[in-house]
Amino acid sequence: MKAVLVRNFGPIETARVEDVPSPAPGPGEVVVDLHAAEVNYPDILVMEGKYQVKPPLPFSPGKAGAGVVSAIGQGVSGLKPGDHVALQAEYGTFASQIVLTADNCHPMPDDMPFRVGAALGLVYQTAHFALIERAAMKPGDTVLVLGASGGVGSASVQLARALGASVVIGGVKGARNAELARAAGCDETVDLTMDNLRDGLREKVRAATGGHGADIVIDPVGGAVTDAALRTMAWCGRLVVVGFAAGDIPTIRTNYLLVKNISVTGLQWSDYRERDPDGVHRVQQDIFTLWSEGKLTPQIADTLPLAQFADALKRLQEGRAHGKIILIP
Ligand SMILES: NC(=O)c1ccc[n+]([C@@H]2O[C@H](COP(=O)([O-])OP(=O)(O)OC[C@H]3O[C@@H](n4cnc5c(N)ncnc54)[C@H](OP(=O)(O)O)[C@@H]3O)[C@@H](O)[C@H]2O)c1
Repeated sequence: MKAVLVRNFGPIETARVEDVPSPAPGPGEVVVDLHAAEVNYPDILVMEGKYQVKPPLPFSPGKAGAGVVSAIGQGVSGLKPGDHVALQAEYGTFASQIVLTADNCHPMPDDMPFRVGAALGLVYQTAHFALIERAAMKPGDTVLVLGASGGVGSASVQLARALGASVVIGGVKGARNAELARAAGCDETVDLTMDNLRDGLREKVRAATGGHGADIVIDPVGGAVTDAALRTMAWCGRLVVVGFAAGDIPTIRTNYLLVKNISVTGLQWSDYRERDPDGVHRVQQDIFTLWSEGKLTPQIADTLPLAQFADALKRLQEGRAHGKIILIP
C-alpha cells in the first residue's frame, strides 16, 4: 500500500510517499481502506516533532479519515468488512490503509460522502467538546470564535449556530477570511489585525451583543488575541483554550477573571479518545445527525491526491487553505 512516511522529524517536504506492507488487524483492531484523509494543523506540528505526542519513527501522519472496513481482528463486534466508517487516529491516515482499534471508528450515514465523513471528525469533535463539555454552552449564549475561518474555528461557528447560540461573532484575519466565517454562520466578524485590538474587539463584541459581551470564547489562536478576547466577556463567561495558531502562548491576567467571575478552561480533545470513548462516539453521532439535518456543512476547499500532501500542508501552514483540504489516498 502507499503511505506518506516521515523518517525524521523536520520540514513537511522531507516526507515521501512510499510503498509499505499492508497492515493486519490484531485483537480488537480493524483495517480500513482509506478513501479520504483530512489535513489538519496539528499534522504539521507532529511532522516537525513539535506536538505533545511524538510517534515512533518512521510513521505516517494524519489524524482523521474515512473509508471502508476491509478486515477485522479477534473480538471486534459492531463492525464488519464493507462498513463505511469515519475514524480518528493519533497518526496514520495519510495512507491507503490504516490499522486501528475498532473504538476509533464511527459508522457513517449511508448517504454521507467519504470526504465529508473525514471532514466531520477532528475539528468538529474539538469544537463540540469545547462548546458543550468545557464551556457548558446553552441555547441563547453569545459566542465569540477566534480564528473563525480556520478548521476548529469554522466548525465552532457552525456548531454554536446549530446548538442555539443567540449571536455568533467570528474573529478573523482579513476580508477573505471574514467571508468564510460569514459563510460558516457568523452574524458579525471582527478583523483581529486591527489597530488597538484590546479596545476595538471589546467595542465590536459589545455592539453585536447589545452590550452583554461574550458568554463563551473559543480560542484556537492565542497570542495577544487572547488578552483582548478576555476583555470582551460577559459576567460568568467561559473561555476555552484550544490552541496557539498565532504561535505565542499567552499569559492571562487573573484580575479579569475575578472582576467578572470568568472561567478559563483548556481542551485537549485527543485525551477523550482514551478516557471517554463512549462520549466521543456519542458526540460523533450527534455531529452526523446535525449533518443529516442540514445544520453542518464542512467547508471543503479542495480534494487532492495523496502525492500532493506537502502542497496541502503548505497551504494550511501559510494561511492559503481557505477551508478544509482532503487528501484522496
Ligand atoms: N486542543 C485540541 O484538542 C486541538 C484540536 C485541534 C486543533 N488544535 C489546535 O488549534 C489551533 C488551530 O487549529 P486549526 O485546525 O483550526 O488551524 P487552522 O485551520 O490553520 O486555523 C487557524 C486559524 O487561526 C488564524 N490565525 C492564525 N494566526 C493568527 C493571528 N496571529 N491572529 C489572528 N488569527 C490568526 C488563521 O488565519 P489564517 O488562515 O489567515 O492564518 C486561521 O483562521 C492549532 O494550534 C491546533 O494545533 C487543538
